[in-house]
Amino acid sequence: MHENDIVTLDIEKFSNLGYGIAKVDGYVIFVEGACPGDIVSAKITKANKNFAQAKTLEVLTPSKNRVEPFCPMQKVCGACQLQFIDYDYQLELKRQIVEDAIRTIGGLDAEIPKPIASPEIKNYRHKIQYPVSETKVSKRILAGYYKPQTHEIVNLKHCPIQPEICDKVMDFIREHAFDFGISGFNEKKHSGDLRHVVIRSSADSGRLLVTLVVNATKTFERLNKFAKAIFDEFDEVSGVCVNFNSKKTNVILGKKSECIAGVDFIEEKLLEKTFKIGPNTFFQVNPKSAENIFKYVKDFIRKNYKKPLVLDAYAGISTFGICVSDTAEKVVTVEENPESCEQARESLKINKVKNVEIHNSDAAEFFKNEKRRFDLTIIDPPRKGCSEESLNEVFRLTKGHIVYVSCNPATLARDLKILITKGCRVESIQPFDMFCHTYHVENVAIIKVPQ
Ligand SMILES: C[S@@+](CC[C@H](N)C(=O)[O-])C[C@H]1O[C@@H](n2cnc3c(N)ncnc32)[C@H](O)[C@@H]1O
Repeated sequence: MHENDIVTLDIEKFSNLGYGIAKVDGYVIFVEGACPGDIVSAKITKANKNFAQAKTLEVLTPSKNRVEPFCPMQKVCGACQLQFIDYDYQLELKRQIVEDAIRTIGGLDAEIPKPIASPEIKNYRHKIQYPVSETKVSKRILAGYYKPQTHEIVNLKHCPIQPEICDKVMDFIREHAFDFGISGFNEKKHSGDLRHVVIRSSADSGRLLVTLVVNATKTFERLNKFAKAIFDEFDEVSGVCVNFNSKKTNVILGKKSECIAGVDFIEEKLLEKTFKIGPNTFFQVNPKSAENIFKYVKDFIRKNYKKPLVLDAYAGISTFGICVSDTAEKVVTVEENPESCEQARESLKINKVKNVEIHNSDAAEFFKNEKRRFDLTIIDPPRKGCSEESLNEVFRLTKGHIVYVSCNPATLARDLKILITKGCRVESIQPFDMFCHTYHVENVAIIKVPQ
């Protein structure tokens, strides 16, 4: 098999990165834009010794699970790889992704249930991060998601998985940046002003927080005027912030933000608790689906514990901690981002919660120095999962259950294997669909620690 070969492929399975998998004489080919059950004509884009990558050119026989994508840009935009697959079958494919990871990486012979569906499969994404560039000649702003495997921006005028108001704000930015002398970023030359636009919107109130990520270390007059113009244009916008990121990096946000107009937060409601979300604080992209997860964890605690001492690690704005606080004697939360801890403290005041203790620290450092033992520990680390050292500490600190919330089935499986070797038992793994139409899947694993 060679690059540029055109081949007919029978798609048998689905990969953890959302590709169809075909085999030719045992040789594995990962096919973009293909669904199990399809027969496709595809072009080989890369051929290695052990496997190849290919792109679907034509669907010769469609799988019964193919549907017409509801977004006309689906084929060119890299955001919703799976939108051409029936939503219910997307869930089944995600179930298989989790089961495969848990069996092959985790060595656990577990049957994984179907993910709990997202309450909304359109307009569900409440965090928008558009990279920005500009056209060569007319210097008009381009903003949208990248084409798959490129840094080429698809100038998205409408995105049906986001609240509609976000399209309007982005249109205003596209139309008026030039008038205010704001240029789009040129990644190759590392020049220009505006690198990204990040919009957070509240599923509860519909209010927006707009953050302009700029290639600068401090704000400047044209930028201030532009930020104020965005704020004045939209009643729904609670605040416009600028974030400074002048580094040569793919990381979107720099460490420092400044509020230029309005306020530097929006409020979101989860399980009847109010949370403040700022420009630099982590918050789940799909609040309605996240609420299902918080409820699931809270119900587990309520059914199995009477007023436990709970540790919530990698806590963000202490979302788990505050949501489960009324079932617990006390919750201790640990998070490394100082702004998230600040917002969490504000949320304690708003919700009149008195039994949550917030620590701004690296989790591993906190674990090492902590003397208390907890009835239950919730860990919700970033995609890379936990270090073995941290898992050892969590094991030492926990008397009853570890609730492991994960957005990466592979690192979850790896970490479960480590916990199992220490005598832990995985009682259940429940996937949740937070990121509809993408291959991403969130999981909650309930793990019993031996007495
Ligand atoms: C997946 S988020 C989960 C946040 C929160 N549990 C929620 O549901 O909103 C992971 C969080 O871990 C934090 N984090 C990453 N590395 C950390 C570390 N070494 N120590 C403490 N917190 C960390 C990040 O800042 C982020 O807020």
